[in-house]
Amino acid sequence: MSTPAPLLELRELRRSVRLPSREDLHILRGIDLTVHAGDHVAVVGRSGSGKSTLLNLLGLIDRQTSGELLFDGADVSRLGDRRRARLRGASIGFVFQQFNLLDRRTALENVMMPLMYGSAGQFWRRERLAREMLDRVGLADRADQQPSRLSGGEQQRVAVARALVRRPRLILADEPTGALDVTTGEAVMALLDEIARESDAALVTITHDLQVAALSRRSYLLDEGVLNDVGSTGAQDALSATVGIRAGREAVAAAGASHQEVQA
Ligand SMILES: Nc1ncnc2c1ncn2[C@@H]1O[C@H](COP(=O)(O)OP(=O)(O)OP(=O)(O)O)[C@@H](O)[C@H]1O
Ligand SMILES: [Mg+2]
Repeated sequence: MSTPAPLLELRELRRSVRLPSREDLHILRGIDLTVHAGDHVAVVGRSGSGKSTLLNLLGLIDRQTSGELLFDGADVSRLGDRRRARLRGASIGFVFQQFNLLDRRTALENVMMPLMYGSAGQFWRRERLAREMLDRVGLADRADQQPSRLSGGEQQRVAVARALVRRPRLILADEPTGALDVTTGEAVMALLDEIARESDAALVTITHDLQVAALSRRSYLLDEGVLNDVGSTGAQDALSATVGIRAGREAVAAAGASHQEVQA
């Protein structure tokens, strides 16, 4: 029996940019990664390590310099911009650190936004889907509120509802808890993980918080343009350099590193 193709498959993926000095900056130097439906993968890395660059490739916002990126077994680098945009709209949901909600709209209108594109049908149907999602994130009673009247955690839950309302097969979260306190961040991550699992979507979380990464099923460290399994020796050494910035001892222990390597 054949197993279904992974949702995402990255092979030797590279991304370089040409600097004004005419030198090439090699941001990603050969990324191999396989993500299946229902997976939750975290990518940890210090600032400037290329996390957002990687996320933009996964989100079909940017194109690689070389290597392959297969979405559902198909090489998406062959697709033109329009078809990539259509695939992105239909299959990928984004959650950002700063929520990116429109403040002149209500929570409900924000969640309905992704349904305006594509074939989501009549207004009442879009509204019903959006209300269901708001209910799912526990904000049914705040549907008519403007985002600025909501707490940070509530705003991020609206953003989660918006990212998931089209039932994307891939959810990309870039520092989703970066603007939240620890407890609220954990609750948002738990919710994201839960809803992703329910709909068998794959979740890729980018973070420099090891506590957040520990909530995923697999974590990788992005360092020097390559991904290392967080359990591997190379990653442990690099982690001890990265970690001092933000995470405490317990978070590192949870992520699999040994206490001695951490300079708290
Ligand atoms: N278009 C570009 N031109 C020049 N340099 C770039 C470009 N895009 C990214 N870089 C550089 O590549 C590196 C990686 O950037 P990226 O935004 O992916 O980092 P990051 O890991 O997301 O960092 P942070 O945690 O601070 O968000 C940085 O040094 C950045 O300055
Ligand atoms: Mg970034």
